[in-house]
Amino acid sequence: MFRPRGAGLLALALATLAGGPAMAEPRATTVENCAACHGVDGIARDTEVPHLAGQNERYLFNQMMAFRSGKRVHKEMRYMARNMSVEEIAALAAYYAALPPR
Ligand code: HEC
Repeated sequence: MFRPRGAGLLALALATLAGGPAMAEPRATTVENCAACHGVDGIARDTEVPHLAGQNERYLFNQMMAFRSGKRVHKEMRYMARNMSVEEIAALAAYYAALPPR
């Protein structure tokens, strides 16, 4: 199986945030929910989707918060961000920001 570097870090971050055993919490939004569009490595395969790898962490965080509130309008991203907690958004922003850019 393809194992991206950094995925372990995310799992660790999520485990820390979830406080241990609750890690298997089924509702948690993880990088797997984003990979179809943004790539597990943060490099989008579709030219209509932005790369996230190496982007500023604060910027990624702010954009996801804006999608969540509807301030930044985009149907798919609104749908994705709608149920995400601030902790999940922070963990995903940190994950993608830490990946090497294209
Ligand atoms: C169905 C495809 C799809 C999925 C799934 C998806 N995205 Fe997106 N994402 C997009 C598209 C398309 C855009 C560009 C939005 C626009 O044009 O404003 C975007 C934009 C973004 C941006 C803003 C990037 C920038 O440069 O401004 C962030 C951050 C982001 N997505 C994070 C995520 C995360 C985290 C997930 C998983 C929870 C996710 N996305 C899941 C399609 C998707």
